[in-house]
Amino acid sequence: MKRSTFGSKFGMLAAAVGSAVGLGNIWKFPYLAGENGGGAFIIVYLLCVLFLGVPALLSELSLGYIGRSNGIGALRNITGNNRWGIIGILGFLGSFIILGFYFVVAGWSLEFVYQSVMGEFVGQSGEVITQNFDTFRFDTWRPYLWIVAFIVLTAGVLYAGVEKGIEKWSKVLMPMLFAIVVYLCVYSIFLPNSSAGYKFYFDFDFSKITADVIIAALGQAFFSLSLGMGAMMIYGSYIEKGTNLAKTSIQIASLDTLVAILAGLVVFPAVFSYGIDPAAGPQLVFITLPTVFAQMTGGYFFSLFFFLLVAVAALTSTISILEVQIATVAEEFKMNRKLSLVLMSVVMLVVCSMCSYSLIPIEEGNELTLFGKSMFDICDILTSYIILPLGGLLIMLFLGWFYKKEDLHYILVVETKCSEGLFKIYYFFLRFIAPLLLLVVFLQQLGVF
Ligand code: PHE
Repeated sequence: MKRSTFGSKFGMLAAAVGSAVGLGNIWKFPYLAGENGGGAFIIVYLLCVLFLGVPALLSELSLGYIGRSNGIGALRNITGNNRWGIIGILGFLGSFIILGFYFVVAGWSLEFVYQSVMGEFVGQSGEVITQNFDTFRFDTWRPYLWIVAFIVLTAGVLYAGVEKGIEKWSKVLMPMLFAIVVYLCVYSIFLPNSSAGYKFYFDFDFSKITADVIIAALGQAFFSLSLGMGAMMIYGSYIEKGTNLAKTSIQIASLDTLVAILAGLVVFPAVFSYGIDPAAGPQLVFITLPTVFAQMTGGYFFSLFFFLLVAVAALTSTISILEVQIATVAEEFKMNRKLSLVLMSVVMLVVCSMCSYSLIPIEEGNELTLFGKSMFDICDILTSYIILPLGGLLIMLFLGWFYKKEDLHYILVVETKCSEGLFKIYYFFLRFIAPLLLLVVFLQQLGVF
């Protein structure tokens, strides 16, 4: 059977940018920037994207493009044996861990769209909003209902396949997402005292850069660019032969970074406008912001569009992660694609329900904890700080040190028209700089330094 491909360049780009732009940009990036010193974090983040993210992204797209299969199959097709399949297996396992918490948060975004429509934030105090969020999260059925809804939405798109599902929906959802984010940015400018927010966001105080800030930025770059778990590899395997992969990688990284920065430009003016702490952590978007919306003139529409933005961004990302699972199972076990889709959706429902349940405080009977952390937090931490950077490192080690340079040169320069100079720079980063940086960070985390 002929393998599916994306039908157009725009569609391919929309799908890949859709994978990259997600909760990472709109939920995580603002709160990480808020916790890690605003402008200082942004500078380090940009450097991570440029020096590590772009080479890793180009490597991953290339592997998929060359191997024409899921992570496990692509490496088998390229090497003729199963040894490097470990990269695919790691990514496949990683996808369960990411989706485990991702669907939970994506589900919250639907609840918040619903609450916005019902006008539930209007005029409420911070205490009431905090309490409502906890009541919702620890409810016996509500969070699970939204998880089911989000899985059904994701699976519904994937059911129609690569071109008629992933590509078609990305082409609609991504322009919509850009429109909403730009609208909200412009709206933010006119909030009272918004300038304090910009000042915080663009305050490049280099003394704030610590090892923790660097590690947070690096993990975030991998997470935000969907690297290290085979999502970009599977999309690379659907890219039409001859497409310029280097240019595509730069476009994806630029658009993804743009949306993250714009998300900060939506969040911080609002936060500062109402004198709220920017370092609120993961609850920044789900508790702090509704408190702001509650007091803001026009807050009803602002909150509605904001949570719609979160939901749309999350959807195009869950599509890419679930696709990794579906394609891997279908191709590796020669299973019918639709059967694989149903199977993986059910498995994810169980995993996500456990993650959601694990958020209930220990005193109230939650058993799903390890080292005092909930399963939800463990999934989140494992993903950004271990699985994704490790997957990225292995991919780059393979391409840089085990794959023939002439072959890579042929694919990138001759077949897909990357310039000679760019290839040289990329290859240098691929072989030396990127793996070295990653190794240093791993050793640092293990406490060697
Ligand atoms: N990039 C997505 C985001 O920022 C998350 C993601 C990670 C998607 C890894 C696919 C693979 O939300």
